[in-house]
Amino acid sequence: MGGKFYPVKGYIDFLKAASSDIESFWAREASKLEWFKHWDRVLEWEEPFAKWFAGGMLNASYLCVDKHLYSWHKNKVALYWEDEEGHTKALSYFQLYREVNRFASMLRNLGVNKGDRVVLYMPMIPELPIAMLASARIGAIHTVVFSGFSSQALADRINDTSAEILITADFGKRRGRLIPLKEIVDETLKLAPTIKKVVVIRRTKEAINIEDGRDFMYHELIKDAENYVEPEPLESCHPLYILYTSGTTGKPKGVMHSTGGYLVYNYATYKWVFDISDESIHWCTADVGWVTGHSSIVYAPLLHGATVLMFEGTPDYPDPGVWWRIIEKYGVTIFYTSPTAIRMLMRYGEEWLKNYDLSSLKILGSVGEPINPEVWRWYYKNVGGERCPIVDTWWQTETGGIMISPAPGMELIPLKPGSVTLPLPGIDAEVVDEEGKPVSAGIKGYLVIRKPWPGMLMGLYRDPERYREVYWSRFKGMYYTGDYAMKDEEGYFWIFGRADEVIKVAGHRLGTAEIESAVVSAPFVAEAAVIGKPDPIKGEVIVVFVILKEGHKPGDELRGEIIRHVREHIGPIATPDEVHFVAKLPKTRSGKIMRRLLKAVIMDKPIGDITTLEDEASIEEVKSVYEEFKHIMKSRL
Ligand code: WT7
Repeated sequence: MGGKFYPVKGYIDFLKAASSDIESFWAREASKLEWFKHWDRVLEWEEPFAKWFAGGMLNASYLCVDKHLYSWHKNKVALYWEDEEGHTKALSYFQLYREVNRFASMLRNLGVNKGDRVVLYMPMIPELPIAMLASARIGAIHTVVFSGFSSQALADRINDTSAEILITADFGKRRGRLIPLKEIVDETLKLAPTIKKVVVIRRTKEAINIEDGRDFMYHELIKDAENYVEPEPLESCHPLYILYTSGTTGKPKGVMHSTGGYLVYNYATYKWVFDISDESIHWCTADVGWVTGHSSIVYAPLLHGATVLMFEGTPDYPDPGVWWRIIEKYGVTIFYTSPTAIRMLMRYGEEWLKNYDLSSLKILGSVGEPINPEVWRWYYKNVGGERCPIVDTWWQTETGGIMISPAPGMELIPLKPGSVTLPLPGIDAEVVDEEGKPVSAGIKGYLVIRKPWPGMLMGLYRDPERYREVYWSRFKGMYYTGDYAMKDEEGYFWIFGRADEVIKVAGHRLGTAEIESAVVSAPFVAEAAVIGKPDPIKGEVIVVFVILKEGHKPGDELRGEIIRHVREHIGPIATPDEVHFVAKLPKTRSGKIMRRLLKAVIMDKPIGDITTLEDEASIEEVKSVYEEFKHIMKSRL
């Protein structure tokens, strides 16, 4: 690596052609899937609402499962599962088909119909993809909630969908500990009254609370299930799922994805980016609870009839060699993970990799946050043995699939560590200034997408206005991503992180407003401001500034209480790293908290323009509180 590279000219020309005539380009890709009924129109575009392949009919469960029964895929492994204790399961495509059908039948027996929302609050077990495919089979809309979220976060999501059915497990497992999922659900349902029925998958023999008439055991219900349920032919724009993601307000956004456009997009991009094939053993380390898991563990690899590996565990338990051991054990060919995980494993050192044979690997992926060039190089050298291209894939919950990334399945262009390289074919990405005008090479601006693409969200669930406002009002005629980016001389994209009030902690997307509202729910807190602080491993960590109510004393006790509140409201992923007590927060004259100033202080940067600041004393106080904190931290070293 290093030196000056020019991308292959033919590839650039191809990209230009693809994004100049998106309709014929995407129609070609769509015809690679099997449709029950051909579409009438490739695209109906009424900005900001797209209908891709309007009039077409298909079914996600049929395409991911049934389709493979008519070839030798029938008896190949669809899914390998392993947990942190080394227990394993393997399901062939036929077995997956059987399970999906029976699960779908169980849902029908519970009264679930087309269009109903099914909430899946489940750990990383095979039943999770099975439940997703079963919902899709009958046209129900799944909404997976990451099982690391706590009861308030789960309740907010349930209430937004007004779902009546929830599927969970008795416990999750993490680092040798049991996570009491059913207990969290019991707490949640006090706040989310729409849920009428709960299905519990038993994994342990531990006691759990069962409410008669509401709670059902999966192993009992499934006894009455049928072996076959006809896959429902669904309109291309029938929602496949809703997935909540954090934005700039406290209320999470219900990103809604279509069936046809989403599947076409993921089928196409997975071939280009990962060169996925029959022989692939594909391991994405994300949780199915995030969009990465939806697209990269479930839909894309199964559409392709590849073999998916699902691991219920963390990168360093029982030891930091566990991932490398799994790659060797299964002969993983595609490995897709986050920069945070790589940074963590890099810190443990190369020793952990030495004893494992990683020669099966062909392509390495990175996703979720910017990857630092030195981490990229470490990954390339130590994991990929300098043989495997790294695909640094930029995308979002909203985009449904990968948007900007190398595409070695099509053309291996020269890579640059730290750059996501070029937009995929059919994607019209640009970097623009405040006015929406493209900026010159080397200038930082906002990343936008100027044409619709099949994987794009259909909207926000029951909130079309918010959809328009968040994504389509900042720049006229363009989808606003919320990211800062830059294009270099060769047209390569570099992503710099969020331009809005969203932070990325260990690759997890969190809204500062969401965390602030968890903090102020503590009865002794008057006001709070949350910012992200750069961190060498996690990318960003959470820093909270708090104003206490009259009569409460700052100190470690309340600090602990605040942390506990956030963990209970949102979950352990939102645990604050630092909590600082102040008497005032820097605000504009109209009362808006100036987080930018707080950030400048903690990063020891010039605070810049403060003409709109209401009270200069507030920033002086923040400075002295932070100086004191740094002093204490130093003395502890
Ligand atoms: C945000 C979306 C769908 C991927 C999982 C995250 C950041 C994502 C990259 C990358 C730099 C990246 C952006 C984006 N991001 N991929 N390769 N390089 N930043 O999905 O939780 O919806 O977060 O993740 O800031 O806007 P998400």
